[in-house]
Amino acid sequence: MDDKPWSGFRSWLYSLVFRTPKSNRLIVDLAELSAPDRALDVGCGPGAAVRLAGEITAEAVGVDRAQPMVDIARKRSGQHQNVRFEVGSAESLPFSDGAFTVAWTAHSYHHWEDPVAGFTEIHRVLAAGGRFLILEQDGKKHGLTDSQSQQVVTQLEELGFRDVGITKVDKQILISGASS
Ligand SMILES: C[S@@+](CC[C@H](N)C(=O)[O-])C[C@H]1O[C@@H](n2cnc3c(N)ncnc32)[C@H](O)[C@@H]1O
Repeated sequence: MDDKPWSGFRSWLYSLVFRTPKSNRLIVDLAELSAPDRALDVGCGPGAAVRLAGEITAEAVGVDRAQPMVDIARKRSGQHQNVRFEVGSAESLPFSDGAFTVAWTAHSYHHWEDPVAGFTEIHRVLAAGGRFLILEQDGKKHGLTDSQSQQVVTQLEELGFRDVGITKVDKQILISGASS
């Protein structure tokens, strides 16, 4: 877990190495987006998945607690009319109740300081029936083990998410559910 937001240098380095990683395309495909969706990427980093989502949905929003990441995401998204980025943490999202129909977090969850607070916030900003997806590496390092994934499922169910399930996709763990 990180105890502080990513620095400018680390954000810049990450954005160079992971310009459009395969997993950004994967999460957008797995989210099964359609035009009416209002999509939120929590821990969006340089914003590649948000830009991909914006090609499909009316609105795609990225939030990240690191200002340097948000600065990079905004700089790279100048041409995209329907995407925007905000600084904010998963644990205290700067959005109104029910603002989104789908939310995901990709390779960010394992950094969160308070996952239950993050899930509570995501449940709050999702409209009823909104989908939520977590994509992480399969394994202990920078990802989720099987037992950690089970714990996440339990937490999501206790918070009122339904149809929560775990799948392994492309050597990654996908946990998905829907808000009630
Ligand atoms: C490994 S990067 C992944 C970025 C992007 N999702 C991707 O897959 O390319 C992790 C990101 O999560 C962000 N992050 C970590 N903890 C966070 C939190 N509690 N709330 C919001 N963003 C967070 C970091 O600032 C960083 O940009």
